[in-house]
Amino acid sequence: MQIEKDVRAIADALKNSSIDYADLRVLITGGAGFLGSYICDVLIEMGATVVCVDNLSSGRLENIQELIDQNEGQFTFIRQDIVDASILEIEDQFDVILHLASRAAPMEFEKYPIAILSTNTIGTMNTLELAKRSNAKILFTSTSETYGDPDPQFVPTPETYAGSVISTGIRSCYEEGKRSGEAFMAAYRRQYGIDTRIVRIFNTYGPKIRADGVYGRVVPRFVDQSLRGDPITIFGDGSQTRSFSYITDTVEGILRAALLDGVSGEVFNIGNDKEMTVLQLAKIIREQTNSESEFVFSKLPEGDPKRRCPDVTKAATMLNWTPKVDLNAGLKNFISWVSELK
Ligand SMILES: NC(=O)c1ccc[n+]([C@@H]2O[C@H](COP(=O)([O-])OP(=O)(O)OC[C@H]3O[C@@H](n4cnc5c(N)ncnc54)[C@H](O)[C@@H]3O)[C@@H](O)[C@H]2O)c1
Repeated sequence: MQIEKDVRAIADALKNSSIDYADLRVLITGGAGFLGSYICDVLIEMGATVVCVDNLSSGRLENIQELIDQNEGQFTFIRQDIVDASILEIEDQFDVILHLASRAAPMEFEKYPIAILSTNTIGTMNTLELAKRSNAKILFTSTSETYGDPDPQFVPTPETYAGSVISTGIRSCYEEGKRSGEAFMAAYRRQYGIDTRIVRIFNTYGPKIRADGVYGRVVPRFVDQSLRGDPITIFGDGSQTRSFSYITDTVEGILRAALLDGVSGEVFNIGNDKEMTVLQLAKIIREQTNSESEFVFSKLPEGDPKRRCPDVTKAATMLNWTPKVDLNAGLKNFISWVSELK
């Protein structure tokens, strides 16, 4: 139920733009994942035709099963790895390509570095070839991780900040993979005139995000631990900061950046700009779930950034987009969805 409400909220927020969704043919990579499956839901709701390519490495078929069952002809799922050159055999023409495919959870960086790096480099090049063939607009979902561990004087971080990344560090497969993906976008734009857009997404949470085991990202992990009454595991002393965007805000920002005219070649931060410590987040979640879980502090992972908060002025000005859902309201939605599952 929460997901339907969210999808309607995003569709309502996008209604007033001049885009004719019924005429749009969209290809989405990574469409069976957390963000991707929401985007598929919204595009189908708005009347677009969607082809979703996903290798189901970190995504789930159940995220899109209803779309497959109920929208024959309007929604097509192709199970395929975008690193594989056979992706180029897709012959359809597209108006827009949304390129989201990539594992994205910190715990996956250690286990699947080659897949992550090749998806964001070779996979991005293959996806750009499809855009070139269709003369489609293409959006790449990059990440706040391209900024690495930013110099505090650049927090909130604007898109112009060049980043502080260690190219051989444990997170480099993701950070440098995304930076290379951005470079591929810029190269195809320069050499072939492709209409590219890049969004650097900051921590997003909401229904469908994976909470399972070590892959869980911080919000679902804390919620899961609080609801079970298990210890809440905090890295370091919890003084590192993050900002948390609810799914509806992030998806609206991505779709605005992908579809609006006049923003070709641009890079946008998409995220919530309310910075807080991880310990503050843990306290809020414990309170909202009426939990008595204790806090347990463990070693900070290598390369964990000390501060993370976007400057979203550019998206506000050029996309007419600002984050609207505050953390308490977003957590309430998320916790109610988690409770629906139990
Ligand atoms: N959720 C966030 O907070 C966040 C923050 C920054 C950036 N992003 C970016 O947004 C995108 C989506 O993230 P998400 O949170 O939905 O993650 P997710 O893991 O839920 O979704 C990623 C999807 O890509 C698919 N995939 C991975 N490698 C693939 C490959 N080689 N070929 C085909 N499919 C492949 C996975 O199966 C999965 O369905 C990613 O590119 C991620 O880097 C997300």
